[in-house]
Amino acid sequence: MSDKYIVAVVGATGAVGREMIRVLEERKFPVKTLVPLATKKKNRRTVRFKGKDITVKVTEDASFNGVDVTLFAGGDNASKEFAWEAVRRGSIVIDNSSTFRMRPDVPLIIPEVNIKHIQRHQGLIANPNCSTIQMCMAVKPLYEKLGVTRIVVSTYQAVSGKGKAAGEELKKQTKALANNRKYAPKVFPQQISFNCLPHIDIFNAAGNTLEEVKIVEETRKIFSNPQLPISATCVRVPVMNGHAQSINIQTRKRSSVDNVRKILSRSPGVTVVDEPDPVDGDEKRRTYPTPLYASGKDEVYIGRVRKDLSVEYGFNMWCVADNLRKGAALNAVQIAEFIF
Ligand SMILES: NC(=O)c1ccc[n+]([C@@H]2O[C@H](COP(=O)([O-])OP(=O)(O)OC[C@H]3O[C@@H](n4cnc5c(N)ncnc54)[C@H](OP(=O)(O)O)[C@@H]3O)[C@@H](O)[C@H]2O)c1
Repeated sequence: MSDKYIVAVVGATGAVGREMIRVLEERKFPVKTLVPLATKKKNRRTVRFKGKDITVKVTEDASFNGVDVTLFAGGDNASKEFAWEAVRRGSIVIDNSSTFRMRPDVPLIIPEVNIKHIQRHQGLIANPNCSTIQMCMAVKPLYEKLGVTRIVVSTYQAVSGKGKAAGEELKKQTKALANNRKYAPKVFPQQISFNCLPHIDIFNAAGNTLEEVKIVEETRKIFSNPQLPISATCVRVPVMNGHAQSINIQTRKRSSVDNVRKILSRSPGVTVVDEPDPVDGDEKRRTYPTPLYASGKDEVYIGRVRKDLSVEYGFNMWCVADNLRKGAALNAVQIAEFIF
């Protein structure tokens, strides 16, 4: 495949933008010219792509002239200001912000789950929230085979989900506290180091956070099931990268733990890592996925599959994925690969 596309990345200096550039290179997306974009900063900044340092430019309307595809990872304000302008100037846009996800004219796509919805696109395709992506990857195969009637999810979300400044805060705060020094929170609403915060994004009148609302509403849109009962609690934990989730489902059909594992292990992009018994009697060889294990990898990992004995047909499972890769950058590049 010859390199023929001009590809822009808005937010190229951020946590997701940098990962996008890595994923484009790793997957050999046919990039003829990479256009890294960000805000105006005093110092000249570069990103590394295919062995070269490319200067980061300031995002403006004219940046999108002649661009074939733009991956937006510049946050809500950048998307509001520039995403449709990029479309008007002829670029396909794949947007990581939450700005347009619920618009009926914007498909919300996870390639393994609902690629057929992409046909409706009008130049702009939205990437779902990182937690939505990994939960849908785990639940959709079971939804199809067993008829999922209710989902209850609790998340354990890494700080990288809040961007590059959040990782710095966790590192510096942990170091300061370990040395009996204070470190006031700047990125998070309270101390994140040695703590857990059930508070991701703003609260609504019903007491849910916006992150919880996103998982519920986005999943319903992706599954084309506006009434699907879903209950979510989202928690930020002092983990550098990789989101984990406890997922509880109720199903219409009876099934076994082995069958659930079998359905999931046959699903593209999902890997079952579930060895609850010690292998050869060795306690250290019980296996389940962790954020450290999933970090840097492309798959969504499932472990701890077991029956929920409190309902007629129900299962619990543990789901882990790299929020910067499948939760953001990889999913966006997979959408681009489908289109080009
Ligand atoms: N982190 C995740 O796991 C994750 C997962 C899914 C979706 N997302 C979404 O992806 C987006 C980026 O998140 P992130 O975690 O990568 O944040 P981040 O690390 O804070 O990076 C933000 C990037 O956007 C740029 N930027 C900010 N305002 C801009 C503007 N008005 N115009 C152009 N560029 C602008 C910044 O440039 P400067 O360096 O010049 O400031 C930086 O490159 C957000 O919408 C986020 O919700 C994140």
